[in-house]
Parts: sequence; structure tokens; C-alpha cells
Amino acid sequence: MKHNPSLDLGRAGDLANATEQCVESPELAAAVASIRERRGLGHEFLGWLDLPERSRGEMMGLRESAAQLRSEIDTLVVVGIGGSYLGTRAVLDALRWKLWKEDGPELLFAGHHLEGSALEELLSSLEGREFAVNVISKSGTTTEPAIAFRLLREQMDRDYGQEKAVRRIVATTDATRGALRTLADEEGYRSFVVPDDVGGRFSVLSAVGLFPLAVAGVDIADLLDGAVQQMAHCLEAEVSEIEALRYAAYRHCAYTNGAAVEVLASFHPSLHHLAEWWKQLFGESEGKDAKGLFPAAVDYTTDLHSLGQAMQDGPRMLMETFLRIRLAAPGPTLPSSPRDLDGLEYLAGRSVGDINATALDAVAEAHRAGGIPVAELLIDDLEEPSLGSLLAFFEFSCAVSGRLLGVNPFDQPGVEAYKVKLFRLLGRPGP
Ligand code: PA5
Repeated sequence: MKHNPSLDLGRAGDLANATEQCVESPELAAAVASIRERRGLGHEFLGWLDLPERSRGEMMGLRESAAQLRSEIDTLVVVGIGGSYLGTRAVLDALRWKLWKEDGPELLFAGHHLEGSALEELLSSLEGREFAVNVISKSGTTTEPAIAFRLLREQMDRDYGQEKAVRRIVATTDATRGALRTLADEEGYRSFVVPDDVGGRFSVLSAVGLFPLAVAGVDIADLLDGAVQQMAHCLEAEVSEIEALRYAAYRHCAYTNGAAVEVLASFHPSLHHLAEWWKQLFGESEGKDAKGLFPAAVDYTTDLHSLGQAMQDGPRMLMETFLRIRLAAPGPTLPSSPRDLDGLEYLAGRSVGDINATALDAVAEAHRAGGIPVAELLIDDLEEPSLGSLLAFFEFSCAVSGRLLGVNPFDQPGVEAYKVKLFRLLGRPGP
């Protein structure tokens, strides 16, 4: 198999050798076997392993519903938080370089915060638009999306009338449990199911992500193809052949050698939300029992002018993973301006993308020289198959990395703790 993504440890220093040893170790083999054989802590939430394959079976229905909605609306509001929205936003933004040229509905997001003024602005911006709502909550009880959905529902009833409002609402939630399931059944909303054996942060390749992405014009068949191939490779290939495992091993070696933070660095602002999704995946899966690398992310070159100082020269407790897109869209070429008053003539004829790639080389070298182990994750391009493959790559890495750490990668007691406290402080009735 041609590896996409692949990991380059050329600037990782001593950790490169340690990683190769870890890849050969019995501990890693045991971790991989427990995932492949669906054993160990949280094994009941391993449904994401065959989710891309299962979702192929659902694709026709998802596409039909999406196409029907696309023909009626100019805006889809995706209501959800955490795993119920980050994956959609990650893929959407990563594909924005080509989607902006199409004439599909705009996707807006709500229910991922509690800022009153932002919600007010969103509601007012929807006036006069032909919009639909996809409300997504696996539990069906999360406060932020429930609040946004109630407000949106009320606006739709008022502006569209109840019958049209019902046609314009799609609920994605548990098959049987939760307030959103009750609401969807009682009101007669079209609905999709979040599989029981898939946790929120692993759910992007279910209807959770696929439906809104299809409405936006993303080729979900291609996205799934990339994920199916990557997942099959992770499940079947020799351990030493699997780049996702080298990434898990690299992280583990960095952690056991004293790193406290992994910084995911991208030179593409359009990957900002991919990094947000990655932060949730690794942070919620590993950050427990006082263990785990803290996942942080930076957007270069923007953040070189703020966090760049601390990266280069601050406390050495970091490892850094650069995302490099081999075939990124080049963007405009710098025109010639012979008087050269801005001093940029030496760059005339080069594309902004090419200059960006050089910036990545420069920063990786500087940070390595500054004492940070640097790995590069190389991705062929920002097309649907590569993105699907990348999502599956991170999911598999994360599961194995969690196993190496000895935590349950599939629960999130910390998130639940805050939800319960918020309910109590808000005075929610019931247990
Ligand atoms: O990964 C998780 O399970 C969580 O972060 C959830 O995605 C998040 O809390 C949203 O939960 P729900 O989809 O139940 O509203």
C-alpha cells in the first residue's frame, strides 16, 4: 500500500530510534491485538473500526435526503457540540478550497457554545433565508445544542409554520434514548441514528458527519473509500507496515521521555478545525488517570508571530507534529514588479503555496535546533479520499496510543462530570 498519510521522523532526534523499537515491541503488538480482537477496556465502543464500511450501506439514503434538502435551502444550521460537530466542521473547512467555487447551501454551526450575543446574531442572520436544521446529539440531553435547537425551532415555527418547520428539521441521535429521540418521534422529524457502539469523537463517519457534509456538497463516497482503505490496512497489515502505529509509538516514546504536550502544527488555516477535532479525539481519549500528552494546536504562520517565541525558546516539554500537504492548492503566483519598492522581487513567479511549504521547512529546522522533537505527517492532498484516510489514521493511532498508556480510550468521565454539575447549578429537575 502507498502510505497516505505517512510519518517522517527525520527531525525527531533520539526519538526516531526509540519509535522504531517501540513498533517492534511486544507491548505495541499486544495493544494492536486487543483492538483488532475487540478486547480490553471500552471494547463495547469499538464500532468505529467497521463504521466506514457500515456507513457505505447507509449512503444511498443519506445522499437522497441530502439532495432533496439541497434543492430547497440556501443554509443548513448544524447544531451540536464536541464529537457531534467537530468532524463535520473539520472536513468542511479542509475542502473549502474547492467547495467555495460551488453553489451549494452554506453550513452554519450552533449549539457549540453558550454565548448569547453570538446566538442572537446567528438567529437574526437567518431571517429571510431558506434554512434547515440538522440537530445532532448522541445522548440527546446536552445543554448547549438543546438550548440552540429550542431557539431555532421557535424561529422556524414562527417564520415557516409548523408543517414546513418539521420538514426542515433532521435529528441525528440515539436509536431509542434521550430527549432528542423523544422529540424527533413525537414531532415526526426525519432522523438518523448514532450507532450505540461508537462514541461521539469517533462518529464523524456516521450520519453525524456524513449527512451535513453531503448537504454541503462533499463527496461522502470518496471520503468513506479513503477511510475504508486506511482502516482495512490498520486492521490487517503487518504492524511494522502501519504508519498509524508508528505515530502512536512516536507519541508514546515522547511521553515516556518526559514530553507533556503535543503540538499539532498546520500551515493551512483551513485545517484549524481538523486540529480541533484531533484535540478532542486525543484529549478525551487519553487525558485521564493523570496521564496523557496534552494536545495543543497552532495555525502557522499566524501563530509564529505569537506562540512562535515560546515554541522556539520556552520550556522544553513539547513535541511537535507538522501536517504537510504534498499537493496543496498553490494559490496565486506573486506578480513581478520591476521597481521592487516592496523588496519582494526575489519571490516573483513563486506561488504563495510554494512559499508556505518553504516556511514549513524553515520552522521545522528552527524548532528542531531549538530542542523540540519534530515529526512530519505527510498527506497527499486535501481531497475526500485523503481526508477519510487521515480520520481513520488518527482514530486507530489514538486507540492504540490509549492502550499503551493503560487508560480506557473510549470513555469521557471528565466531560460527564461537568455536564452533571451544570445540570445541578442550573436547577434541572430529576436525578
Ligand atoms: O466524545 C464525546 O462523547 C463527547 O465529547 C460528545 O461528543 C459531546 O459531549 C456531545 O455529546 P452529545 O452528542 O451527546 O450531545
